[in-house]
Amino acid sequence: MELSINKTKKLIVCTHPLISNNLAILRNKNTPSENFRRAVQKIAHVLFYKATKNLPVSTTSIETPLMTLQAEIIAPDAEIIIAPILRAGLIFSDAALEILPQARIHHIGLYRDEETLKPVPYYNNLPASFKSPERTFIYLLDPMLATGGSAIAAVKMFTEMNIPQENITFVSLISSPEGIKRLTTKYDSINIVTASVDSGLNEIGYILPGLGDAGDRAFNTNY
Ligand code: PRP
Ligand code: URA
Repeated sequence: MELSINKTKKLIVCTHPLISNNLAILRNKNTPSENFRRAVQKIAHVLFYKATKNLPVSTTSIETPLMTLQAEIIAPDAEIIIAPILRAGLIFSDAALEILPQARIHHIGLYRDEETLKPVPYYNNLPASFKSPERTFIYLLDPMLATGGSAIAAVKMFTEMNIPQENITFVSLISSPEGIKRLTTKYDSINIVTASVDSGLNEIGYILPGLGDAGDRAFNTNY
């Protein structure tokens, strides 16, 4: 299928030999969960550095040992929200918190009904509203963007709370062209940061070549 994903201005595909190497570890069906999680951490750090390049900055005066400097820092009034989509999104949380220790974490409980492929919400701990939606920056974490149903449901929760699409970044390990297309057709200004755009989906909505079920691989529940 020909999909014009290159026209998606806000898609960043992080390519690097170390990312490729760790993706190969993740894709290998013989990789044990412990090594799977370790490879995710390594990729996640790079993804978050890319994802957070939209954070606003301000300057503050600091003294180096030699002189005064107007140093650039993350704007203190920026509200940073990390939102892992349960359960697989949890594998990104530690890396995200290491990079953004000042962030608030809001978990989003969604699972994909494997018959209908539709997202089923079961939990979220979002506040009733955000004080300053224009200054709130959301990083949605989910290793797999497959049909895009879960991503769309999660983004909707934040746009309904008046968060501008431009302030929302979806961070994934592997994305399908179909998922990117569907998500960006619905929300044409959101940002996507991913380590790979794979070939497509199989008949049961799994990404090919993909890595299988991310939650099961990470949490060792593929019996
Ligand atoms: C996986 C994955 C995404 C979703 C992607 O979660 O982590 O949330 O599927 O599929 P979609 O783009 O077609 O919606 P899953 O429903 O397997 O839940 P889990 O993380 O609890 O294993
Ligand atoms: N969810 C996964 O965990 N893997 C896929 O390939 C698709 C959805």
